[in-house]
Amino acid sequence: MPDVPSTMTAIEITTPGDPHVLEPVDREVPSPGVGEVLIKVSAAGVNRPDIMQRQGMYPPPPGASDIPGLEVAGEVVAAADETGAGLIGSNVCALVTGGGYAEYCVAAAPLCLEVPQGLSMAEAAALPETFFTVWTNVFDRGALRAGERFLVHGGTSGIGTTAIQLAVAFGAEAYATAGSDAKCRFCEELGCTTAFNYRDVDFVEAIKTATEGTGLDLILDMVGGDYLPRNLKCLATEGRLVQIALQRGQKTEMNLLPIMLNRLTVTGSTLRPRTVAQKQSIAEALRAQVWPLIESGQVKPVMEKTYPLDEADGAHTHMDQGTHIGKVVLTV
Ligand SMILES: NC(=O)c1ccc[n+]([C@@H]2O[C@H](COP(=O)([O-])OP(=O)(O)OC[C@H]3O[C@@H](n4cnc5c(N)ncnc54)[C@H](OP(=O)(O)O)[C@@H]3O)[C@@H](O)[C@H]2O)c1
Repeated sequence: MPDVPSTMTAIEITTPGDPHVLEPVDREVPSPGVGEVLIKVSAAGVNRPDIMQRQGMYPPPPGASDIPGLEVAGEVVAAADETGAGLIGSNVCALVTGGGYAEYCVAAAPLCLEVPQGLSMAEAAALPETFFTVWTNVFDRGALRAGERFLVHGGTSGIGTTAIQLAVAFGAEAYATAGSDAKCRFCEELGCTTAFNYRDVDFVEAIKTATEGTGLDLILDMVGGDYLPRNLKCLATEGRLVQIALQRGQKTEMNLLPIMLNRLTVTGSTLRPRTVAQKQSIAEALRAQVWPLIESGQVKPVMEKTYPLDEADGAHTHMDQGTHIGKVVLTV
């Protein structure tokens, strides 16, 4: 690997805890394995799962780096074999299973997507985790179609801002919940018909009124707990609920009857443990159907702030405060 140093700066979780447990350390530059490439990182996205990993609640899956970071953008500088050889020298953004908070990161070659024209490297680094997650849950699993009514909880999260834009771009009517009036206005500027401040409004009643009693075709939920029975009350006949996180807990009580009477589907998924082949099919769909929307400017990553890599603790403090709208990104 010409011009690649043997060591690099990476951000280590020294022990589970507050943001100060994130420390810059020297690590060996990783070597790409079969089917992988080495990326010289320009920027790395920060996601809620990184926060959970830092807190000791989301351990990396077997074989993944212990360094946090699920998405990067940068230049491919080496490849283990012919799978990624053609990528050497190109700027890509990549979905990775860990290791993003570092100067170099390995990625599966099929999970590298070209940086969309017109985007900075920081913006490109904000794409993979949220766009892969939204595509597979809203369009594959949730089967959202044009003309349907869709709601995402947490509308100003990285996931929420992506889900709103894609739902609207594909012809759905979008709704959201968020924790302040200002965040709700932002969701509406992104294309939501209406966004509801969940601290002031009962979203079940609000959705009933907004949809004249018909309900929603699809909900993307990252809240869980007691939101489950309330979500079911919002669904129209044949409605679907896709669960992607459980911020209010894993357990709740619910009445199963509406699932039968209204022929509802309750499902969910996680992205990180899936195989490269499964993630590759999402990458191919994004390249074909979503990258053109980004390049035309119809859809764009919503950026909150960038931090230098060695201020990852500051980036996590910012996420912990919960005031952000869109993505926080580390730059190298
Ligand atoms: N399953 C998967 O494969 C997968 C992949 C990636 C991410 N995720 C999950 O998706 C979620 C979003 O990730 P992110 O990185 O975009 O995080 P983020 O920007 O930190 O967003 C977290 C969001 O949760 C919202 N929230 C918390 N309690 C809420 C409630 N009671 N009602 C409505 N919204 C509520 C917050 O809204 P307010 O700030 O307005 O309160 C905030 O927008 C995280 O929970 C993450 O773990 C899942």
